[in-house]
Amino acid sequence: MCGITGYTGSGSALPFLLQGMKCLEYRGYDSAGITLVDASMTTWKAKGRITELEKMLDAEHCPEHTGIGHTRWATHGVPSQLNAHPHNNMDDTISIIHNGIIENYVELKRELTGKGYVFSSQTDSEVVVHLIDDCFRENGHDMLKALETAVKRLQGSFALCIVTTYEKDKVYCAKKESPLVLGHSAEGSFCASDPTALLAYTREILAMEDGQIAVLTRDRIELYDFEGNPLPVSFVHYPYDAESAQQGGYDSFMRKEIHEQPDAIRGTLRGRFDAEDHLIMDEIESLNLDWDHLHRVYFIACGTAYHASIYGRTLLQRAAHISCIAEPASEFRYEDPIVDEHTLCIFVSQSGETADTLAAVRLARERHAATIALTNVLGSSISRMCDATIYTCAGPEIAVASTKAYTTQLVMLVCIDLKIAEKLHAVFPEEEKIIRSLKELPQIVEKTLDLEAQIEEYAGLLVDQHDAYFIGRQLDYPTALEGALKLKEISYVHADAYYAGELKHGPIALIEPDTVVVAIATQKDVASKTFSNMQETLARGANVIFLTDADTDARDFRRVVRIPACMEALAPIPAAVLLQELAYFTAKGKGCDIDKPRNLAKSVTVE
Ligand code: F6R
Repeated sequence: MCGITGYTGSGSALPFLLQGMKCLEYRGYDSAGITLVDASMTTWKAKGRITELEKMLDAEHCPEHTGIGHTRWATHGVPSQLNAHPHNNMDDTISIIHNGIIENYVELKRELTGKGYVFSSQTDSEVVVHLIDDCFRENGHDMLKALETAVKRLQGSFALCIVTTYEKDKVYCAKKESPLVLGHSAEGSFCASDPTALLAYTREILAMEDGQIAVLTRDRIELYDFEGNPLPVSFVHYPYDAESAQQGGYDSFMRKEIHEQPDAIRGTLRGRFDAEDHLIMDEIESLNLDWDHLHRVYFIACGTAYHASIYGRTLLQRAAHISCIAEPASEFRYEDPIVDEHTLCIFVSQSGETADTLAAVRLARERHAATIALTNVLGSSISRMCDATIYTCAGPEIAVASTKAYTTQLVMLVCIDLKIAEKLHAVFPEEEKIIRSLKELPQIVEKTLDLEAQIEEYAGLLVDQHDAYFIGRQLDYPTALEGALKLKEISYVHADAYYAGELKHGPIALIEPDTVVVAIATQKDVASKTFSNMQETLARGANVIFLTDADTDARDFRRVVRIPACMEALAPIPAAVLLQELAYFTAKGKGCDIDKPRNLAKSVTVE
C-alpha cells in the first residue's frame, strides 16, 4: 500500500525522503512523488519506480529543510503522474500526501467545486488539500485550526502529512485508521507510515493514535487531539536497527527472510519458558476472561495469517474440545458471527495494520468478546485495540510474501493453544514433548534449509507449468494452502490447495500427464489415506512432489523430500519452509520480481 515520509530539520529533506520511500517500496506502489518547501514549494511526481522520480530531481540543488514524499498504490484513479501524490492547492502553498480512503470524497468534491476549487486528479485524496485550503482561509490562516476543522469532515481512513509555504519549518500530520509513526533526533523530526523508513535516522519512535494531529518542527513534536487539546508526547525505543531491515547479501529479501527463520523462531520463543520448562504467557494469564464459561474461540486473519489461524484452531480444538473457528477477517463481519462475552477472538496479523482484520477487531469488541492480537509489529494498530498483544519477534519482514512471520505465527499459536488448554483445565496431548520439540525447532529448521538443493531441482518441474495442486489432510491442510498461496503470489503459477480426500470429488478432473501435485503427509494417522490420493494422481500421469517425515515408507514415489525428525504437531513448520523455498526457486527460475510481486502490497490498509 501507499508509503508516507516527511521531514523537517537542520539537514536537507531530500535524502531522508528518498531513503524512506525506498524502505517503503516493499509495501507495493505504482507512482511516487515529493514536495520540498521553502519560501515557495516544488513538487515532482512520476509514474513507476522511485528511480523515475530521481531522474527528474536535481538532488544537488535541493537544499530545502522540509518536505514530504509518497509512494502510491492506486485505489481511486489509475496509476499516473497526475494521480500520484503529493496533491497541492491551487496556488501551490499547501501540499499533502494521504494514505487511506476518503469515503465521502464525492460529496466533498461537489461542495468544493461549487466554491471554485479546480481538481486536477481522479483521486479521493485531492479533496483533502482543497478542503484544508478552504478551512485555512476560514480559520484566519491558522493551519492547526484548519486541520482540526478539516479532519472532522473526512469520513474513511487517513494518514496525512501536510507542508505549507506559510510555515516552511513545519510538517503537520493527522491520523485515523491508517498507520503513521513519528521520530525525533538531534537533527530534526520525521514521519512515515512504517518505522523501517525512520530507522537509519532515529530509533526513538512514537506511533500516532487515531484521532491525533501532530506538528513536527526541528526541535520537537507536538501532539493534539482533533479538538486541539495538547497531548503528552512519549517515544519508545525501537528494538531493530536499520541493518536488520536491509538485504544483507541475499539476492532478495524473501530469500534472506526464509534463512532468518531459525533465529526468528529462537527470538519468538525467548523468555517463554521458566527453569522448569513451564510456559510463560502473562498476556493470557492477565486476560480478564471467565474461562469457566468460555464457549468458543475464533481465530481471525487474512491470507497467510489466516492459514496460520487454521493451524491454531485445529490444534486447540483437538486438545481442549472447545468449539474453535478459523475465519477470514474479510468475511467475519458480514456473517453475523456468534460472538459475545463468552467468546475469545484471536487476531493474527504480521503487520497489525490489515484493514479487514482491524474491522473484525472492532466488531468483536463491540460484542464484548475478549481479544488477543498476535502480531509482529510493535505498537501497530492492532496492538492498541486488543485486550492483550502477543508478539512474534521475527524482525522486520520486508518481502511482500510472508515467510518468517508465518512460521513464527505457528510457533506462537502452539504456545497460545497450550496456555488456553491449561486455562480450560484440558490435558494437551504430549504437552511436555511439544515444549521440548519447540525448543529444538530452530535446529530442525536449520536442517530443513539444508534440503535447498533438492527443492531447487523440483522447482524446475514447476517453471513451465500453468497449474499446480497442493494436497494434505488435518494439520497438513493449512500447509497445502500456504504452499499454494506462496507459489501463485510470487511465481504466478496458478495453484490450488485441497484436502487430499476432496481431490476425487472434482479437482482430479484437472490432473493430466506432467501436472505437478505437491502432497504433504506428515500426520501419521492420515498419511496412508493421503497416499491413496497421491496414487490417484500418479495413475493420471502427475509429477508428485512428496513432503513427508523421516521414516514414512515412500518407496512408491520418485520425488520425496524428508522433513528432518520433528514432532508431528510441529511438522507443519519445517514443511512450510520447504514450500516457501519451492515458490522462491520457481519464481527465480521464471525471472520474477520476487520481493515485489505484481498487484500485491505488503500492508493491506484498505478493505
Ligand atoms: C502473503 C501475505 C498476505 C498477508 C495478508 C495479511 O504472503 O503476506 O497474505 O498474510 O495480507 O497481512 P497481515 O498478516 O499483515 O495482517
